[in-house]
Amino acid sequence: MNGLFISFEGIDGAGKSTHIAALAQAFEAQGRAVTLTREPGGTPLAETLRAMVLNEPMDALTESLLVFAARRDHIGRVIAPALAQGRVVVCDRFSDATFAYQGAGREFDWDVLHTLERWVQGPSAAALANGTAPKLLQPDLTLWFDLPATVAAQRLAGARVPDKFEAQPAAFFEKVSAGYARRLREDPARFARIDANQGPDGVWMEVLAALRAKGLLP
Ligand code: TMP
Repeated sequence: MNGLFISFEGIDGAGKSTHIAALAQAFEAQGRAVTLTREPGGTPLAETLRAMVLNEPMDALTESLLVFAARRDHIGRVIAPALAQGRVVVCDRFSDATFAYQGAGREFDWDVLHTLERWVQGPSAAALANGTAPKLLQPDLTLWFDLPATVAAQRLAGARVPDKFEAQPAAFFEKVSAGYARRLREDPARFARIDANQGPDGVWMEVLAALRAKGLLP
């Protein structure tokens, strides 16, 4: 059975978490083995880098290098082996988040991010030699939870002590949303835009519809 890679994206407060868990259960109910993971994170090293990125002030290039370093470790130790075993990998954020947060939100150079993406998600030299991995590792499907920044801010208010990104004003998240929209335009076949500005039942129906439209769930 082929591995399957699904990512969830959206601004902070978009409400991904419950649906990530529900989708993992839906695949398990189909008899699939699921790896549930997140970025930045998913390995001990990547979780250490996550704590730095979320808590320490740094410039946008440093942030980008750290999240891509975390991603490199995560791919090598968790994502690629799980896909090779035919597992379903459900990942809370992947490289679209770097383009959206560092690229659009912090206005860091989009082309440099593309270069880092090729380094980190490109085929290994061995795979290139075999001709077995011609393209970048990307999710088979990315569910983008789209929600107005003002609504997300209301949902987040008072929910927990905000980290560095959650503490940003709505204007920052409007830029992040524009970054996600740009990523969708660059690779529309990979994305499903989910209207997250509705109740959880409606959101879940849209998630299921996106999976079914791709033939990934019955
Ligand atoms: P989370 O709270 O959804 O787990 O995400 C962690 C935070 O890190 C979130 O505010 C988005 C941010 N982030 C980046 O800035 N760049 C990235 O590449 C990733 C994966 C997350």
